[in-house]
Amino acid sequence: MEQIPSLDEMLVKPLPPMDGAQFAQWSALLRERTGMRLPDNRRSFLSTNLGMRMRALGIDDYGEYYALVSQGRQGLVEWDRLLHHLTVHETRFLRHESVLALITQHCLPASPSACPAEPLRIDAWSVGCSTGQEPYGTAMAIDDRMRVLGAPYYLGMLASDISREALATGRKGIYSYQQVQGIGPRWMHNYFVELDDGRYQVSEALRQRVCFQQLNILQVGEAPIGQMDIILCMNLLIYFDREQRLQIADTLADHLRPGGMLILGVGELLNWEHPRMKRFPYANTLAFQHQ
Ligand SMILES: C[S@@+](CC[C@H](N)C(=O)[O-])C[C@H]1O[C@@H](n2cnc3c(N)ncnc32)[C@H](O)[C@@H]1O
Repeated sequence: MEQIPSLDEMLVKPLPPMDGAQFAQWSALLRERTGMRLPDNRRSFLSTNLGMRMRALGIDDYGEYYALVSQGRQGLVEWDRLLHHLTVHETRFLRHESVLALITQHCLPASPSACPAEPLRIDAWSVGCSTGQEPYGTAMAIDDRMRVLGAPYYLGMLASDISREALATGRKGIYSYQQVQGIGPRWMHNYFVELDDGRYQVSEALRQRVCFQQLNILQVGEAPIGQMDIILCMNLLIYFDREQRLQIADTLADHLRPGGMLILGVGELLNWEHPRMKRFPYANTLAFQHQ
C-alpha cells in the first residue's frame, strides 16, 4: 500500500533541490508525453509537484523517480498520478457564458418551425474538459434550449482530458455547494440531485449523455473520434507553443461537420487560417465555423 505522508511530513521535510540538468530532463519528458513546455521559471512548480509524489513514495532522488515513471506498467500508472499534479485543472460551471449563448443561438435551430421532423442529432466535444463542469454546463444549456423549442433531440457529448483523475471526478459528476454557486434554480432543479452529504450530483439523464475519455490532444489523430457539430477547446491551447496550437486547431477542424463550430478560448490562437473554416463573429468568443 502506498504511504500517504502526514501533513507535518509534507510541511517539514525540505524538498530536494532540483538542478538545471534535472529540470531539463523532466521538462523534456513532460514535453515529449504531453506537448507542454515548461519555461525555466517554472522550476519550483515542477519540483514542488514532483516532491509531492516522491514523498508519498518515499523517494528523495529525482533521478530515481524519473527511472520509475519511465519504465514499464508501474511507471505508466505512476505517470498518470503525477500528470494530475503537473496539469492545471481550473474550471467552473458557466465559466464562458458568451460561449453558451453562441451555442444556443447559432448551433441549434432558431425556432420550433426550424426543427427537423426527425430527432435532431447533436454531437459535441469538450477538449480538455478537466473535472466536467464545461461539458455538463454545455449539455445543460443545449437541453434547456431544446426544451424551449419542444423538439426531440439526441445529444452525444464527448469529454476528453489527459488527466485520469480529473476524468474520474467528471464521471461521478458530484460537486460541492460552492462549485454549483451561480447556477440558477431552474437548472439546479432540472439537472442536479442533492445528496445526503449536502453535495450535488448531475442528474443521471445528463450524465448518460456525457462520455468521459482519456485523450492526449496531441494524439487525437490516432483516436477513433467521429464528426462533431460543436467542439470546445478552451484554456488548453495556452499550454502549447504556436506550432502545436496550429496543429491542434487543424486537427479539430477536421473533426467538424459542415456548419459545425469550433470554439477556442479568446486570445488563444491568433492569425489561424484554414481553407474550410471561417471566423464566426460573436462577442467575447473566438469561434470558427466549418464551411
Ligand atoms: C485549465 S483546464 C481547462 C478546463 C476547461 N476547458 C475550462 O475552460 O474551464 C485545462 C485542462 O487541459 C488538460 N490538458 C493538459 N494537457 C493536455 C493534453 N496534452 N491533452 C489533453 N488534455 C490536456 C488538463 O488536464 C486540464 O484538465
